[in-house]
Amino acid sequence: MAGLAVLLALASVAVAYPALHLEARQISAQEARASYDYVIAGGGQAGLVIANRLSEDPSKTVLVVEYGHLNTDPAQEEPSSATAYKQHLLYNVTSTVQPGLNGRGNLTVYAAAVVGGGSTINGMMLDRGAPDDYDNWAKLGNPGWAFKDLLPYFKKATSLTPPIPELQREFGITYDLTAYGKNSPVHLSFPTYQWPAVKVQYQGMLQAGVKPQKEGALNAYGLFWFPGALDPVTVTRSYAVSGYYRPVTARKNLDLLTGARVNEITFDKSKRATGVTFQARTADGLGIEDRVQTVKATREVVLTSGFLHTPQILQRSGLGPAELLRRAKIPVLVDLPGVGSNFQDHAVASTNFRFDTDVTPNPTFLTENATFKAWADELWAANRTGPRSMTVGNVGSWIPLSVLASDYKNILKTISSQKVSEYLPSNYAGSSALLEGYKAQRKLLTNSFSRLTTGVIELPFAGRGTSSLSLEHPLSRGTVMLDPKNKYAEPIVDYNTFVNPVDALVIARAYGFVRRWMKTPAMQTLSPVEVLPGSQLTTDAELVETARNVTRPSTMHGSGTAAMAPRKYGGVVAPDLLVYGVSGLSVGDVSIIPLVPGAHTCATVYAVAEKAADLIKARTRDVPFLGQCGGAGYTGSTVCKAPHKCRSLGDRKSVV
Ligand SMILES: Cc1cc2nc3c(=O)[nH]c(=O)nc-3n(C[C@H](O)[C@H](O)[C@H](O)COP(=O)(O)OP(=O)(O)OC[C@H]3O[C@@H](n4cnc5c(N)ncnc54)[C@H](O)[C@@H]3O)c2cc1C
Ligand SMILES: *[C@@H]1O[C@H](CO)[C@@H](O)[C@H](O)[C@H]1NC(C)=O
Ligand SMILES: *[C@@H]1O[C@H](CO)[C@@H](O)[C@H](O)[C@H]1NC(C)=O
Ligand SMILES: *[C@@H]1O[C@H](CO)[C@@H](O)[C@H](O)[C@H]1NC(C)=O
Ligand SMILES: *[C@@H]1O[C@H](CO)[C@@H](O)[C@H](O)[C@H]1NC(C)=O
Ligand SMILES: *[C@@H]1O[C@H](CO)[C@@H](O)[C@H](O)[C@H]1NC(C)=O
Repeated sequence: MAGLAVLLALASVAVAYPALHLEARQISAQEARASYDYVIAGGGQAGLVIANRLSEDPSKTVLVVEYGHLNTDPAQEEPSSATAYKQHLLYNVTSTVQPGLNGRGNLTVYAAAVVGGGSTINGMMLDRGAPDDYDNWAKLGNPGWAFKDLLPYFKKATSLTPPIPELQREFGITYDLTAYGKNSPVHLSFPTYQWPAVKVQYQGMLQAGVKPQKEGALNAYGLFWFPGALDPVTVTRSYAVSGYYRPVTARKNLDLLTGARVNEITFDKSKRATGVTFQARTADGLGIEDRVQTVKATREVVLTSGFLHTPQILQRSGLGPAELLRRAKIPVLVDLPGVGSNFQDHAVASTNFRFDTDVTPNPTFLTENATFKAWADELWAANRTGPRSMTVGNVGSWIPLSVLASDYKNILKTISSQKVSEYLPSNYAGSSALLEGYKAQRKLLTNSFSRLTTGVIELPFAGRGTSSLSLEHPLSRGTVMLDPKNKYAEPIVDYNTFVNPVDALVIARAYGFVRRWMKTPAMQTLSPVEVLPGSQLTTDAELVETARNVTRPSTMHGSGTAAMAPRKYGGVVAPDLLVYGVSGLSVGDVSIIPLVPGAHTCATVYAVAEKAADLIKARTRDVPFLGQCGGAGYTGSTVCKAPHKCRSLGDRKSVV
């Protein structure tokens, strides 16, 4: 039996369970000090990274305010947690009606509500975007954010343990350790088992014209293997809590306040952020206590409340689209039309083929074959090896448009011929900055679509006949806006999925690609029979209609709602991550992403947060001339001592 050949020769595997008893820095609302150097709003994935780095200096005090609690359920660290999302660790939010999805509405919005955020509950799939993706961030007017600039931060956050030699040989798994750090906080690895059909699927992808990569972490396009966020020693989830929080729970200068909601950022007369207001949640978790508390930040307030709440906190604080703020009766501090716009996620459709001559063992064995199941359970119990160590899979294709669609040139022409404002959310019409920004994005995307170095569809495979088809670089843009009737209610989430018809057409082409893949000699050995979408559906109109009927708007990669871009492009933060129009306030989470990368967002958030921490440390050092040196409302040092010079950065100045 092919799978059994992968016999597991790990040198030593620690079976010990990682302790969940923390020597926590956890405090209650009553215990919070009046003032800290830094206040971080949101103890999710990015918040914990930034808290760790800022508290490295014992003379600086750091407070993290997190709505959720520390997870204490050991099951959440098991590989199986990668596919079992827990409602109580998520916010309870659904979308508006989606016209691009044939009027479906109430679609689940996935946002984590627990310490560690998305990294605590996610699918543990740890891939990076292609160099092109980040280079486009830089080209949009964000110097310092190209792939070469981010690579050191990807390495600082993640290290890789290669797959066991038997798996490498049998499956031809390749990797490049130079893409990773050594002993970085987050440990990536591969499970000790793969389904044998993966070899067939991989060959089929090659035959369908997808080019392989030695290491996707350096070249995330074409066909490549990727690791999971799985500690190779304990075979448990490696995430912001294990990598960035637990190792520093002895630091006396770090406080983690859980079960408290940040309401607003407070400002002084010069529009410098001075702290935040917050309210504790009630003990039953269902409500909020009456008492509103304030905590001061003497150096910086850092927003890391995720794509859903970072824009909401900004809007509640008077930073956002003036028209919305007026409707909500919130005084406008800074008219920032981009707050809550530019919302992107990866919409996902799927196909299903029955394999009439499937190889054995296959994934059904884990539920249907008692002998196999007993073997898998025995390995797992003995030393945490075997099929139970798998998460969501480790290989897939990121298919360039020209490989996906023979008529790709027509698709590019269609994009260029579209009126810029045509398919955008209604609030874009009132903002020339948002329209200009989208126009610049569209130009960058169209260029990328014409190259082989960007995948437009992600198609991972793990030995099953079902495939998810994720739209990696949507043209449609959505919004996340506070509810003007109740600014403390959950925000209103409009994905706007497939409102630009090209997005739905790309999914239609992906259905066609899957059919071509199934017809390759390799895949024909499995005798695939189409179940979904159904071989009777053949025309563009039918496939587009199917896509609109079945696509889910999210793969939980919500991003872009406080985008880093020049202010003339509707940006919310500058390349130094400081919010426009005020001082002492930055954003360091998934919201700053201007263009969603063609990847699951976790690895990117680690790199963004690591870089954010470096930027914050540099500008809030005690040496005056290394801080900011001016700009609207800045009350800190205005001294620029030689050899340093003032440099304009958007509407601010900083020191070089
Ligand atoms: C279910 C799920 C599965 C996913 N699967 C994958 C995957 O397999 N691979 C991958 O790469 N990515 C995956 N992602 C995406 C990835 O995990 C996220 O993009 C990433 O974790 C976002 O990090 P963040 O720090 O920006 O936000 P988060 O980690 O979401 O952190 C935001 C934090 O702020 C807190 N907060 C919000 N509002 C307030 C407030 N008012 N006051 C105080 N605190 C507040 C929240 O409770 C939360 O803890 C998944 C995400 C989810 C939700
Ligand atoms: C794990 O346990 C199995 C079953 O007892 C055994 O066959 C295998 O050699 C062990 N592997 C390692 C790496 O210890
Ligand atoms: C989620 O919100 C809906 C209304 O928006 C409510 O009916 C439901 O009870 C909530 N569920 C939970 C678990 O809080
Ligand atoms: C969404 O849910 C609400 C409340 O349950 C319901 O009234 C509405 O019809 C639903 N909308 C759609 C499009 O499903
Ligand atoms: C069940 O699994 C065992 C061990 O993998 C294998 O030998 C056997 O052939 C399988 N049975 C069936 C019916 O496939
Ligand atoms: C799409 O959904 C609508 C409404 O449910 C249905 O009438 C139509 O047949 C579906 N079309 C396809 C191609 O699935």
